[in-house]
Amino acid sequence: MEQAGRFITLEGPDGSGKSTQAALLAEALRSCGVDVVLTREPGGTPLGERVRAVLLDRGGGVHTPRADALLFNAARAQHVDEVIGPALRRGAVVVCDRFADSTMAYQGYGSGLPLDRLQAIGAFATGGIRPDLTILLDLSVRAGLARRVAGAPEGITRFEATEAFDTAYHERVRAGFLELARREPLRWRVIDADRPPGAIAADVWAAVSGFLGLAPRRG
Ligand SMILES: Nc1ncnc2c1ncn2[C@@H]1O[C@H](COP(=O)(O)OP(=O)(O)OP(=O)(O)O)[C@@H](O)[C@H]1O
Ligand SMILES: [Mg+2]
Repeated sequence: MEQAGRFITLEGPDGSGKSTQAALLAEALRSCGVDVVLTREPGGTPLGERVRAVLLDRGGGVHTPRADALLFNAARAQHVDEVIGPALRRGAVVVCDRFADSTMAYQGYGSGLPLDRLQAIGAFATGGIRPDLTILLDLSVRAGLARRVAGAPEGITRFEATEAFDTAYHERVRAGFLELARREPLRWRVIDADRPPGAIAADVWAAVSGFLGLAPRRG
């Protein structure tokens, strides 16, 4: 598919600041006059938001990792067809808070599903759309959990409910993201997320503005 725009994703463990940084990045890009579409996964469409509610609900019973992988990818397929694909075709910069790499990290490295099978399902769901640039906000599991617990209670999903918090699982997820970044160093930028939001935002901006060829930001 012809892609006139640019597709930028933010990835990283729970609580690493993806949503915070995605919003700041979109705002900074808009202030440079860039046509930006800010979106998120799971979600980004009416169907996707309904799937998100099913996925993140703490009362939904046990999900198997394969069911999770397919649900995330079902939401992703809709998201690509309805939002991301059209935006890229018209030349927009799409900023997406999590994308296919999260399924590799959580259901693959975290839950142990075969990476090649996830890769194949993901390719079907995305129709081959891949991020041009991926920012990994890297943070320790302990620091991420502390932030989430300190944050809004509705932000706590079944993945980090403290009574069921599985540190080893979250360590595998974090290591998985770092491994994905090592495998594709041209696409990924790894940023230390254990710092104040402004310091992280400055590094995100340096990476993105450099990638897009924008002039340095004033102030
Ligand atoms: N750099 C930071 N330092 C301290 N706290 C932060 C920082 N960035 C975000 N926070 C706070 O930490 C919490 C998690 O941030 P945010 O929602 O942006 O992370 P996230 O990566 O999107 O999380 P999730 O994976 O759960 O969606 C929020 O309460 C937010 O206000
Ligand atoms: Mg978030």
